[in-house]
Amino acid sequence: MEKFSAPIISAMTAYSSDGALAFHTPGHKQGLGAHSLLKNLITPEGLRQEVSLMEELDDLHSPHSCIRDAETLAAELWHANDALFIVNGTTCAIHSMILAALQPNDLVFVPRNSHRSVISALILSGAVPVFLPVEFSPALKIPLNLSVETLRRAIKKFPQAKALILTSPNYYGVAADLPQISALVHAAGMLLLVDEAHGAHLQFSEKLPVSAMDAGADLSAQSTHKLLGSLTQTSMLLVKNFDAAKVRRAASLLQTTSPNYLLLASLDAARLQMAQLGAEKISAALELSKHLRAEINSTGALSTFDAVENFALDLTKVTVNVERLGLTGMAAEQILRHELKIQCELSDPANLLFLLTYADTSATVSRLVDALKLLDARPRLPCTSTGLSDLPDEITLAEASPREIFFAPSKAVPLAQSVGEICAEEITFYPPGIPVLSAGEKISAAVIRYILEQKKFGGRVIGAADVELNTIKILE
Ligand SMILES: Cc1ncc(COP(=O)(O)O)c(C=O)c1O
Repeated sequence: MEKFSAPIISAMTAYSSDGALAFHTPGHKQGLGAHSLLKNLITPEGLRQEVSLMEELDDLHSPHSCIRDAETLAAELWHANDALFIVNGTTCAIHSMILAALQPNDLVFVPRNSHRSVISALILSGAVPVFLPVEFSPALKIPLNLSVETLRRAIKKFPQAKALILTSPNYYGVAADLPQISALVHAAGMLLLVDEAHGAHLQFSEKLPVSAMDAGADLSAQSTHKLLGSLTQTSMLLVKNFDAAKVRRAASLLQTTSPNYLLLASLDAARLQMAQLGAEKISAALELSKHLRAEINSTGALSTFDAVENFALDLTKVTVNVERLGLTGMAAEQILRHELKIQCELSDPANLLFLLTYADTSATVSRLVDALKLLDARPRLPCTSTGLSDLPDEITLAEASPREIFFAPSKAVPLAQSVGEICAEEITFYPPGIPVLSAGEKISAAVIRYILEQKKFGGRVIGAADVELNTIKILE
């Protein structure tokens, strides 16, 4: 198969050019009936190609022609043995990965910084999490990742666990030591499942943290849409040392039976674009990020970094500390968005996060630099940094699985009366943005002490039904 081809797009074009009059779905009949607003959005050509389940367009649930070919090309490019195209988001890739790999009641290591889709996958699968603490940098005020040491402790304590579900890199680009982690996990007879939502571009530069597939992960869920060029909602599930048929069975349970071909085509095009220009484009993004960092560090109040102790860093993610302006990251985000017309990816109490992708140019970066210089030139306010206390670093086995919690009745009780009860919600403070308590965990006195300290510091709470945290939800 020609690696610079786009099998799905070729099949769509062949069908739509064949002259067959549409007496089939979708109801807009290749754009014929579409509202002008929709025509403007998608273009008449886009709608003409928005076709459905014709024989030459293959079947996402049992791919054997154009989808199969496109997936094979993707597997080759991302160094996997197989690849599945996913149109229901990385959430669905993670659900499929976990449903394929874990049985009800299996123990699985879940670092506390995992995305909510990991917990929802455990609701579907019935597996039981062992929550692992993750590191936090008090100097940079960002969450780091799972340390090798913590994993060693966890394996010793729970050698019967079946897998580790690891998020790497995290939102800020901080990657765990995947090669060491892969070796440890496999030596213990467990599977390594990686949520690589923020890592679809890692494959294309040796200056970036090693990708999950190259590090020996068994399965990896990648958001092609987040940092590469496919449409939002499209992802890939990469398979290395795992039964691909089992993964396909799980994905087939969860994916729509009416996949949108524009979404599939966008995965095909994003793969082709990376096959053609991946190394060049990602290396350009890295050069731009180097320039951006130098400019940021030459301002009076803003600062950024290009390394993190003990962890690898994806340098296309640029975290900017704004505390010396006397602003929170959230306030700085508002100024950038509404006065300076720049939108960052996220803000936290101390930082702004900017993503540079293959699409950036010196022009986009120079506009960002100009805006950050204007932000830096604003009158300084007194610094109001939020306090932090050490996160509890316990490794805890959930007392009830997320599945049991999902179906069980719960009630709110005063915080002080909750010690020893089973928590029925997830509680996260910003900073550090790492859940301190997850649904299914027994509430310890140490965690309540931590919560009370964070309340005193004025930390912002996410996830709790009572945002003042006077009460907490427990299992009835
Ligand atoms: C680490 C991580 N995993 C999974 C997801 C879910 O991806 P999607 O929104 O494509 O379903 C996200 C989304 O932000 C994420 O940040």
